Amino acid sequence: MDGEVRIERDGAITVVRMWRPEKKNALTADMYAALADALEAASASDEVRVVVIAGAPGAFTAGNDLADFLHRPPRDRAAPVFRFIDALPACPVPVVAAVDGPAAGIGTTMLLHCDLVYASTRTRFVLPFVNLALVPEAGSSLLLPRLAGLQRASELLMLGEPFDAARGAEIGLVNAVCEPDAVEATALAAARKLAAKPRAALRATKALLRREPEPVAARIDIELAEFDRHLDSPHAREAFSAFLQRRPPDFDGLG
Ligand code: COA
Repeated sequence: MDGEVRIERDGAITVVRMWRPEKKNALTADMYAALADALEAASASDEVRVVVIAGAPGAFTAGNDLADFLHRPPRDRAAPVFRFIDALPACPVPVVAAVDGPAAGIGTTMLLHCDLVYASTRTRFVLPFVNLALVPEAGSSLLLPRLAGLQRASELLMLGEPFDAARGAEIGLVNAVCEPDAVEATALAAARKLAAKPRAALRATKALLRREPEPVAARIDIELAEFDRHLDSPHAREAFSAFLQRRPPDFDGLG
């Protein structure tokens, strides 16, 4: 499909591809609107089991299009950039990112909302908000210290210096570092594995992982209620039977 945000289907996987390579995939309001539409559609779909976010070879995204920001600054919550920022954490479907090349600003902060992140050896993350006389967005002032620790988050958000995929892995932002020509295949392979999992159990696990903290005893209660709900599912019965019959589980046709 043409356009600066391209939607590709690979079975139950939707690949949402930013495609404005001549501008290193800098994101305009129109692109944010298309990204938000794609995530909302995936969230509402019964068929989509995983979303993969990808860019162009050597350009994940240079972040907000600064010319667009200068001329059309987003002022209210309904602005496309905020629609995207709201749609990503609200997406109940697992989201996998394949990062190659620059991942600036929201190109890094969006990854805090992705479930699995694969990044290439030529990835350059940067959080340049303070350098641009701005402040962090997309919940990154909360999520980055939680992920990386306060000192490291302070360094990355205050100094605003680029860092590579190996450093991304060290701070917990990146699951695996890949060669540039392997990063998308690696992300898709992980997405296919997720797509073959029992759908409801996977979504419930994502929701539990992303839930705001509560006392441990309260979380155990919540997990127990979910556990109970899933115990009688046809998927769980199939998984148990498959184990006992020493065969791989077959969830096809179970929804
Ligand atoms: N907004 C608008 N245009 C951008 C852009 C952005 N965020 N990032 C890159 N571009 C444009 C450049 O102006 C250039 O356009 P031109 O060819 O018409 O002159 C084109 O994309 C290629 O960028 P260039 O800087 O030449 O590529 P590079 O490989 O040398 O560097 C980056 C890539 C991403 C490191 C560099 O462009 C950059 O630092 N961009 C700004 C990142 C940023 O601060 N984002 C905002 C976060 S809030």
